[in-house]
Amino acid sequence: HVAARRARPGDDLITHLIAAEEAGDRLSTEELVATCVLLLNAGHEATVHAIGNGVHAILANGADPAALFAEEAATAATVEEILRFDPPLHLFTRLALEEVEVFGHQFRRGETVGCLLAAANRDPARYAEPDRFDPSRGGAGQLTFGAGIHFCVGAPLARLELGLALPALFSRIPRLRLSRPAIFADRYHFRGLEAMWLRAGN
Ligand code: HEM
Repeated sequence: HVAARRARPGDDLITHLIAAEEAGDRLSTEELVATCVLLLNAGHEATVHAIGNGVHAILANGADPAALFAEEAATAATVEEILRFDPPLHLFTRLALEEVEVFGHQFRRGETVGCLLAAANRDPARYAEPDRFDPSRGGAGQLTFGAGIHFCVGAPLARLELGLALPALFSRIPRLRLSRPAIFADRYHFRGLEAMWLRAGN
């Protein structure tokens, strides 16, 4: 695609990435490919699953979409609670750069540490009744986008997408409901739906 767009530019993302430059510097083909992979995995797939998980959380918990998306503040709170309750990414890892003790656990240099973001989101010390889907709590403080220097650079875009897609879906199909239990995919990295059967009317 990169070669094809170099030969014949179009009005698309790859063409814009090829044209992008900073101080006379352009992205190499390897960098373009890496950026496309990143945008597809980080930018597209995570948001797809967040939207699917969100629709499921609303319907499986019998929440009333008309109230959830009644106005901007309610929509924002619903989006945060969806991100807390059923995030599309559960696990990121870190390498210990030096010997360190964290919360009483000793790590040696080079050891891998699994950070279970989704489990942190259900921490009973942080949230009352953490297993309850409750948009009124606003999901504040969830770790779905990570923390620290690697905090998700696409978080504002993801929040925007969720806040637009979900109200659009439920205003077009207000009586949307599950017609049988959904199936979550058995994947290592992404937590998302394999299949969700929906009914649009009575
Ligand atoms: C609901 C959707 C999303 C979720 C749950 C999510 C989650 C995350 C998490 C947990 C991290 C931190 C990884 C780590 O600490 O190692 C991260 C990093 C990142 N995300 Fe997202 N993300 C989402 C959407 C997006 C979007 C829409 C984009 C771009 C268009 C994006 C681009 C990135 C990039 C570039 C990083 C790496 C940042 C760095 O290492 O400095 N993400 N994301």
